[in-house]
Amino acid sequence: MAIAKAAVIGAGVMGSGIAAQIANAGVPVLLLDIVPEGAADRNALAAGALARMAKADPAPFMSREAMKLVTPGNLEDDLERLVEVDWIVEAVVEKLDVKQALYARLEKVRKAGAVVSSNTSTLPLAKLTEGLPKSFRRDFLITHFFNPPRYMRLLEVVAGPDTRREALEQISAFADHRLGKSVVRCKDTPGFIANRIGSFWLQAAFCEAFESGLPVEEADLVLGRPLGIPKTGVFGLADLVGIDLLPHVAASLRTALPADDAFHEVDREWPLVGKLIETGYTGRKGKGGFYRLATAGGQRVKEAIDLKTGAYHVAAKPRLDAVDAAKDGGPRALFEGDEPAARYAWRVMSRTLAYACSLLPEIANEITAVDQAMRLGYNWKWGPFELLDRIGPVWFAGRLEADGLAVPPLLRQVGEGTFYRVGDGRLQYLTLEGGYADVVRPDGVLLLEDVKRRSRPVAKNGSASLWDIGDRVACLEFHSKMNAIDAETLDLIDKAIGIVAKEFDALVIYNEGSNFSVGANIGLALFAANVAVWPMVEDLVARGQKVYRKLKHSAFPVVAGPSGMALGGGCEVCLNADAVQAHAETYIGLVEVGVGVIPAWTGSTELLTRWVQHKKRPGGPMPPLAQAFETIGMAKVAKSAFEARELLFLRAGDEITMNRDRLLADAKAKALALARDYRPPEKSEIALPGPGGRLALEMAVGALRLRGVATPHDEVVAKQLAIVLSGGEDADITEPVSDEDLLKLERQAFMNLVRQPATLARIEHMLDTGKPLRN
Ligand code: NAI
Repeated sequence: MAIAKAAVIGAGVMGSGIAAQIANAGVPVLLLDIVPEGAADRNALAAGALARMAKADPAPFMSREAMKLVTPGNLEDDLERLVEVDWIVEAVVEKLDVKQALYARLEKVRKAGAVVSSNTSTLPLAKLTEGLPKSFRRDFLITHFFNPPRYMRLLEVVAGPDTRREALEQISAFADHRLGKSVVRCKDTPGFIANRIGSFWLQAAFCEAFESGLPVEEADLVLGRPLGIPKTGVFGLADLVGIDLLPHVAASLRTALPADDAFHEVDREWPLVGKLIETGYTGRKGKGGFYRLATAGGQRVKEAIDLKTGAYHVAAKPRLDAVDAAKDGGPRALFEGDEPAARYAWRVMSRTLAYACSLLPEIANEITAVDQAMRLGYNWKWGPFELLDRIGPVWFAGRLEADGLAVPPLLRQVGEGTFYRVGDGRLQYLTLEGGYADVVRPDGVLLLEDVKRRSRPVAKNGSASLWDIGDRVACLEFHSKMNAIDAETLDLIDKAIGIVAKEFDALVIYNEGSNFSVGANIGLALFAANVAVWPMVEDLVARGQKVYRKLKHSAFPVVAGPSGMALGGGCEVCLNADAVQAHAETYIGLVEVGVGVIPAWTGSTELLTRWVQHKKRPGGPMPPLAQAFETIGMAKVAKSAFEARELLFLRAGDEITMNRDRLLADAKAKALALARDYRPPEKSEIALPGPGGRLALEMAVGALRLRGVATPHDEVVAKQLAIVLSGGEDADITEPVSDEDLLKLERQAFMNLVRQPATLARIEHMLDTGKPLRN
């Protein structure tokens, strides 16, 4: 049964975010909460949540259309409307009696067979459904989302003994395909998987730091990047999620876990934490937390707390030998360091990883579920068992023994081996029975990671590779630093075009980096500029244009499958594909003006052409120019694939995949569909107004400059952009301008700009700080 309409009850942090994600999937959703006492607007809580979400950054909604799909209401006037929905998500306060009383009310009004699920983080399903009729228990499960629900990919799902299999499958499939979540089936145990291990880790890290007095900056440094953990570490993470949440989660685990659980050894209440919460220092949402931003001498400075005194000081940026050693030597090198922070890292991680080992089969039947939960729920790069493989299980067990700590049976079982291995080109994991089994991907999930494990590239250089992904489809992968595009990338695209024309039916451009591509490698441009080898720069610009256009007009279909950032030259790859199959979380834009140039690998021309040819645009020669001018001139980046449609980075035939893991299979299917009777696009010509249009755009920038919105160099860059977008000095609306002529204008404008000191200053600043210089 499809889910045509849903409801979320509880419009707090989680409920409102879950409602937004259901709406992002295109499904209408009712958002209900209680009627606050004496409120004039009986829907105040849900309506207020919607108003807050409209302004929140990062945005819970992917588009304005999605926002319109959420209808606010309240539990007194709108309860009967629940008969319309196929799925009710309960996300009210974490109180058993409140939840149970609500379920009893739902049971009276819900449509037969409509699924009810709870977002509880700690209450067992068995408790939640106690005393409720079987008819309710059959349709009930736990769907535990992570905060924020749009961005966190993990969904822990718990089914009870009475839960209908179809109900479980229906919600799991919807969550996977439509909400883009990785569903991890969990047992009905306290904290499920991720929070059970994550809370232990946090508590252990707190204990060791409070007891040893290690500075929080050092604690976060070692419990971050060297272990593949986000750089927030533990104290930064507590600030991010809210320090006030920690005691609640700890308290519920304290009561729910058996007395012999190792959690109790690290579960402590720290007076400083209580004091921070009492005084409103709940983290980033409050006045600050373990860190805070202060202003000193007009400058924003980051301060860190002293765990012993509670006083703040300017946050240190520690440099540790063990952290340096871990860059090459991995986590084990970190643990072998003899600085206090390195010993701290070992004490925390040894206990946490041993705890994770001890929890199977209690919390999961497979180590893969645990690793996936920690990767997607806590953003760890490696789950506990993957991390143990990097450390070396034998070494780890030996050191546990040396410390007088118990070696968990699972660690003894893995012995000299590893938790994962590659057998017959397939990734395999250690089962609890002691053998190895293949990691099986769900239907419709194709990972380049797996292709790479079992085959060799068709072509490869330092920046990109071409892979055979089956059914006569090839996949071009970028793998330079941040997937920046350089001469080698262009070489490989060019080479791939030749190979695919002969040996394949279609090409997909896709990779599994966190970003599709951050754009052209501007470091090279700066280098070339510093030694003034202008012909080299010009060649690279011309070569990029040629290769990108060759891609567009090749004899086979090209589908781009971006996810994450697709900026500048990365955006231009998408603009030259026949179709884009975009992950919903794609952030696409032409951001070149940020470094003082204009898009000159076809981007300015292509976006302009799209606006000119756009069927729904307002009439007259100026509106399409103005649209392209604004998008490029303001370096607009779409904050989702849906927004990319509004900016014409995506076209009508382009599609969106919600689940990251399904992106490659979807892109491949699209490429195969296009290959059936493929004809390359014709070369386009567009009519442009010439100098009159340029003047109009210049005046608009002049006005922004006067208002102080545009900087002096913004104006210089915008003027060059205006020349390109108006078709050059010889253009006139009665005579179409060719693609070649526009590309020539792009090159000229780029070369005019790249020689200017103000542009070079922007490039240098971007390389140093990662932020645009507003000169
Ligand atoms: P919240 O405090 O932000 O929102 C709770 C909502 O429940 C409020 O809007 C409140 O008006 C409503 N409510 C209170 N009493 C009610 C009643 N008698 N009937 C109906 N609604 C009532 O809480 P939050 O953080 O959104 O948590 C909701 C659920 O999600 C809890 O079960 C929590 O354990 C779980 N959860 C929370 C996470 C988090 O990071 N905050 C993460 C994952 C799960």
